[in-house]
Amino acid sequence: MKTLPQPGVDAKPLFDLLLGATRSQALMSAVDLKIFNHTTGAVTAAEVSTAIGAHAGNVELFMNALCGMGLLQKKDGKFSNTQITDTFLVEGRDTCLVDFLFLNDNWMFQNRDQMREALLNGPTPPMQEPNSANSNEEDDLFQAQSILAMRNFARSGAAQKVGEELSKLPEFSEFKEMLDLGGAHGLDCVATVQKHPTLQGTVFDKPHIIAKTEEIIREYGMEDRIKFIGGDCVTDPIGEGYDLIHAKGMLNFTGPALGDVIAKIYNALNPGGVFVSIHDGLTEEKTQPEDLVVSWLSSALSMVDVTFEQHEIPEAMERAGFKGIESKPYYFPLGHQLAMVVGRK
Ligand SMILES: C[S@@+](CC[C@H](N)C(=O)[O-])C[C@H]1O[C@@H](n2cnc3c(N)ncnc32)[C@H](O)[C@@H]1O
Repeated sequence: MKTLPQPGVDAKPLFDLLLGATRSQALMSAVDLKIFNHTTGAVTAAEVSTAIGAHAGNVELFMNALCGMGLLQKKDGKFSNTQITDTFLVEGRDTCLVDFLFLNDNWMFQNRDQMREALLNGPTPPMQEPNSANSNEEDDLFQAQSILAMRNFARSGAAQKVGEELSKLPEFSEFKEMLDLGGAHGLDCVATVQKHPTLQGTVFDKPHIIAKTEEIIREYGMEDRIKFIGGDCVTDPIGEGYDLIHAKGMLNFTGPALGDVIAKIYNALNPGGVFVSIHDGLTEEKTQPEDLVVSWLSSALSMVDVTFEQHEIPEAMERAGFKGIESKPYYFPLGHQLAMVVGRK
């Protein structure tokens, strides 16, 4: 007689992982077909299918599944957005994250074969190394366009949180000049400067990005409080005389120049000045946090691994001369927890 195995473990997590692909495809298909634009009020699936020119029966099945996923609600046969889709997935709203989702989707493998290919053959290095002085016009244009998508993500809560956190620094009321290094859309700087009656801000980013930043700062009417420097922080001066330097999600891109950039930050601060880096960092032999390892996986396997271990940035700050370095977890709505590290000159 052959006895049945006693696995001692439940297989459910495997099937949950498998269904992740269908959930992701459903989300991006709904966004692509602009379904949530049509469900700001209660409508039938037939009305939506007519509006988007799609197959009525399949649209109903699809919208039922979106309800199951918490993206729509259904009552008496009519569908409407839930709070999360109404806030983030209706086009035209300041908090619309549709372009930002596509931007992120663009960085991921589009199918299993692409992942297999990278596993078998290794990464295809980008045409230019990170921080190369030779810019590639197509990449520059894409990055500049991405800034508007990043702007909507920033103003959906991320920038407001930076303003809250930085304004809690004990020295905040004394600050006169701040630098937002790799500030991109500039909204972290806007949120921080708006918490202070007189603080002046500077946003530093690559020149093709800064052109877009200026548009965004004008949208918020902050031209008199925020100025700009376009450059590469690895090779160019970043200014001086700052009381606060903030860098969020940018030090990863400095690669082997991390120590040099942190030394440059130290030199650009006034005595007693504060540097705050908000960044992600891997732990547990680079296997955690899970969201972070997974979110970097596609670009790491296919192009270049820009991840740092959590201890690397605080250690580089200590080597540069920063004192009293403190780290704390920092919640970030992109799916993973970041670290906020504060050091003083
Ligand atoms: C992931 S984005 C983060 C943007 C913004 N700080 C935020 O948290 O939303 C990284 C930014 O750093 C900028 N960056 C990366 N390397 C840079 C460098 N060497 N010099 C200047 N800016 C750089 C990029 O252009 C980009 O805008």
